[in-house]
Amino acid sequence: MTTYPIGPSGFPEWSSEDGSVRLILGDCLEVLPTLSGIDAVVTSPPYNLGGRPWEKLGHWKPGDGSGGHSKWRNGSDASNGIQYGMHVDAMPWAEYVAWQQAVIKAMWDILPGDGAIFYNHKPRVIGAKLWTPMELIPPSVILRQIIVWARPGGMNFNPTAFVPTHEWIMVLARDLFRLKSKEVSGLGDVWSMSPERNEHPAPFPVDLPLRVIEAVKARTIADPFMGSGTTGVACIRTGRRFIGIEIDPKYFDIAVARCKAELNRFPLLEPAKPRQRELL
Ligand SMILES: C[S@@+](CC[C@H](N)C(=O)[O-])C[C@H]1O[C@@H](n2cnc3c(N)ncnc32)[C@H](O)[C@@H]1O
Repeated sequence: MTTYPIGPSGFPEWSSEDGSVRLILGDCLEVLPTLSGIDAVVTSPPYNLGGRPWEKLGHWKPGDGSGGHSKWRNGSDASNGIQYGMHVDAMPWAEYVAWQQAVIKAMWDILPGDGAIFYNHKPRVIGAKLWTPMELIPPSVILRQIIVWARPGGMNFNPTAFVPTHEWIMVLARDLFRLKSKEVSGLGDVWSMSPERNEHPAPFPVDLPLRVIEAVKARTIADPFMGSGTTGVACIRTGRRFIGIEIDPKYFDIAVARCKAELNRFPLLEPAKPRQRELL
């Protein structure tokens, strides 16, 4: 694992020569309050796939094939669930809800009056009941719209419910947030995109942040659960500034490598000069 110098956030950072891409290694709840100048957030948190929202109500039956499995199950079992890298994706449910509410609030608090958060999560049928990520929105934050990300290839076959083939992108928008134009409204609220694979266990496709960028005026975009840096790749491709936060050094290294590779795809980037293409 690479070591990175401490940056202005007080955490280890990698940044591009022109400063347009800043990747910060740390806990987003601690890093977010140190940041400013962010116009929009595009992010996908851990889904707590090993968590059991209705355990306390007795709806959950371990091993009944109706939930509780996790693509994050890749390491040793922790006493309270599943250990994956730095993050346990099986937090006690109330703790998970409180954590996500705190992170959403931390993002909301640093956004300007026309800012917005595009927060990707998914409804799940667990046991015999639908859980939706609406529970994660703190009372002071405003949900403007739910975009459906239609993704082929659901895998959770069981007799309880139809195979889920969509996720949500919740648009949490401050009052003055507007789309870039009337025309982009025509993108609609159902976005069909195939998932993509890379070394990270749960990346979203680069088309997802690209679609958001196409639709908004934001110049600087953050992703506090950066993972493999997909939002950063989209920002580099479209000349937006990017700030990413990731807690796991392994995924952080992947994000650095992807962002470096993407920056290298611009032939006008030279070591001593900022990118020739004007940043939006
Ligand atoms: C669903 S993944 C994001 C994947 C990303 N969208 C991509 O395309 O690669 C969530 C990420 O959040 C990271 N994470 C978990 N807890 C965190 C925290 N407290 N602060 C920052 N990152 C965290 C995990 O390590 C994981 O990489």
